[in-house]
Amino acid sequence: MKDGITIAVSKGRILAESLPLLARAGVRLLDDPDTTRKLILPTNQAGVRLIVIRAADVPTYVLNGGADLGIAGKDVLMECDSDNLYEPLDLKIARCRLMLARPQDATTMTGRLRVATKYVMTTRNFFAERGQQVEIIKLYGSMELAPVLGLSDLIVDLVNTGNTLKENGLVALENIADISSRLIVNKAAMKMKQEMIKPFIKRLAEAIPQ
Ligand code: ATP
Ligand code: PRP
Repeated sequence: MKDGITIAVSKGRILAESLPLLARAGVRLLDDPDTTRKLILPTNQAGVRLIVIRAADVPTYVLNGGADLGIAGKDVLMECDSDNLYEPLDLKIARCRLMLARPQDATTMTGRLRVATKYVMTTRNFFAERGQQVEIIKLYGSMELAPVLGLSDLIVDLVNTGNTLKENGLVALENIADISSRLIVNKAAMKMKQEMIKPFIKRLAEAIPQ
């Protein structure tokens, strides 16, 4: 949209953790995001609106200019063409780690290993850097189930408390990346709408807890 700025936010935990940050930066939703069916959410600032969408759709909207700014997890950004986006702020919310994990009782693994993950690009790069050939099995969620049911030898997934791994008999092997949510900005919008975007970035930066 030409007038004002549109901010795309991942629904779920990132939205929940973003709203207090946005409020500290002076942006408050006019509707309750849990009950409204609106897809474009107006805010107390006439020129600022939010769209609340699936995590993986946030960079797509921002890259294509459907949204000027976005809030997305680094895990999602590592999977897309984020060289074409500005990433001015680490918002330090929705923090977790992207980890390689295996079943606790796995015997020695030999041959070409099967790795189940939603993070295909990152997993491919991780094993390529080690010169290790693996078969990657793309899943869309509940990765912890894959080794339990014999679909894979390993998984690459997000870990926070470690409870999901533990409750499914898995153990972490390696930390692939530290994850948190980032503010992303469309490059053209940063030029064309800098008088709105730059002060917003400054206010949001001041709102990040130290
Ligand atoms: P979708 O429903 O669109 O597939 P999703 O299930 O990945 O998305 P969430 O689980 O809310 O949605 O995750 C959104 C983002 O939150 C992730 O991209 C990641 O950055 C972060 N995240 C996911 N799991 C955790 C966690 N356990 N602790 C902290 N942050 C997390
Ligand atoms: C995420 C992630 C792990 C879990 C890790 O899933 O995919 O399964 O959190 O968190 P923990 O280490 O604190 O247990 P989420 O809760 O978002 O559910 P999902 O599978 O529906 O995405």
